[in-house]
Amino acid sequence: MTEEKMFFEEKVFSREDYEFIFEADKELIEEILKNKKSGKILDLGCGEAGISLLLAKKGFEVTCIDISKTAINNIKKEAKKRGVKINALVEDLEKFEIEEDYDIIIGTGIFHFLLEENSLKLIDNVKKHTKEHGLNVFEVFLQGDPSQEEDSEGYYFKPNELKDLYYNWDILDYEEYEDYNEEEEQTNKIAYLIAKK
Ligand SMILES: C[S@@+](CC[C@H](N)C(=O)[O-])C[C@H]1O[C@@H](n2cnc3c(N)ncnc32)[C@H](O)[C@@H]1O
Repeated sequence: MTEEKMFFEEKVFSREDYEFIFEADKELIEEILKNKKSGKILDLGCGEAGISLLLAKKGFEVTCIDISKTAINNIKKEAKKRGVKINALVEDLEKFEIEEDYDIIIGTGIFHFLLEENSLKLIDNVKKHTKEHGLNVFEVFLQGDPSQEEDSEGYYFKPNELKDLYYNWDILDYEEYEDYNEEEEQTNKIAYLIAKK
């Protein structure tokens, strides 16, 4: 298990001055809605759950999980405020077993918090628990990302590795790109995948 996994709980979300903004990636939501209009969603390592809250508002049946109790408590409060139903759970993805099948499984910005073997096991588990014609949506950091340090334990993907794991699915979109993060003043190396079973 990685040392880094409590980073958001201990250093970000639980800070007294931290404001939850529940921001959602609009392009990602559009991509999802182009392909699915309803169904069951699992959002892994949801953070502030911007995507989950918005899709729950659109009528999807959403379960979102994160290791941060602070995040999950805030998501529950925000869901109540917005009048949406969402199943928000505190779970550790390095031990989490998916038990039900989902139409859409999302994981953005999480694998660099999980060990390689746990990351690959999780993807395997996610693929098994995606319904026929269901979607997987992932955004991962690539090797050489500036957040990767010599002693980083979390997993950074090799070029094309994520896409190759989906060799037997329909790849709707796969992109590798660099994205400048103003807050961190660094350029992240990202791979984005949306694949259909
Ligand atoms: C960079 S944030 C990404 C949040 C969200 N998916 C997004 O794209 O905005 C990473 C999230 O993963 C969560 N996390 C890290 N390790 C985890 C683990 N082992 N199990 C569950 N959640 C974890 C953190 O608490 C944090 O909320």
